[in-house]
Amino acid sequence: MNRREFVKGTLAVAGAAAMSHFAFATEGGKKMKSIVIYFSHTGENYSVGNITVGNTAKVAKEIAAQTGATTWEIKEKNHYPTQYTPCIEVAKKELQAKARPEFIGEAPDLSDIDTIYLGYPNWWADAPMIVYSFLDKAKIDGKTILPFCTHEGSGLGSTAKKLAAAYPKAKVELKGLALYGHVAQKEPDAVKSAVANWLKQLGK
Ligand SMILES: Cc1cc2nc3c(=O)[nH]c(=O)nc-3n(C[C@H](O)[C@H](O)[C@H](O)COP(=O)(O)O)c2cc1C
Repeated sequence: MNRREFVKGTLAVAGAAAMSHFAFATEGGKKMKSIVIYFSHTGENYSVGNITVGNTAKVAKEIAAQTGATTWEIKEKNHYPTQYTPCIEVAKKELQAKARPEFIGEAPDLSDIDTIYLGYPNWWADAPMIVYSFLDKAKIDGKTILPFCTHEGSGLGSTAKKLAAAYPKAKVELKGLALYGHVAQKEPDAVKSAVANWLKQLGK
């Protein structure tokens, strides 16, 4: 799969949407918080060689740093192949089967959370199936979900739309932040300013 294939048939959407949110909004007198939840793959990567911290993880950490939100990483029980080619094959099969691979542990308690920054790599123009595994189990009804992704040409594509369709009781923002994976991995200043701009547009 080359970069052109990534781009084909998908929309390269980067940007953000205006949503009202505050790190500690209140709901019925209760302090509501935000959290950054993300999945990110380590090992052999499409464009940046072998990595020990995933591209999406880098963005997730920056969002947490700038918002003060806590982070929660979705970790797969059965590790996706470290090598790139087997990994894309497994991911494709999971997508075709609408698989729900298991993640480690229990979904965190989201009762005092109103906003979830949800991060994932673009895998075959969708979020990895393990992200769906997580969302199936987490109590996300009524929560605002602000998606961000890393990719190598497809941008956010229709990933947010697919999440919105799958979880109609959550408020999934259709536009989100999309960053090239190699930029996320290698250009911390670019990540910093992309995140800052996004948060500014969101009114954070
Ligand atoms: C299984 C798999 C499928 C991918 N599919 C796409 C794709 O459809 N479009 C795209 O732009 N990039 C695609 N990529 C590239 C990743 O989105 C990109 O390298 C991303 O930054 C990886 O993030 P991570 O390190 O957080 O996992 C794919 C990568 C993998 C491993």
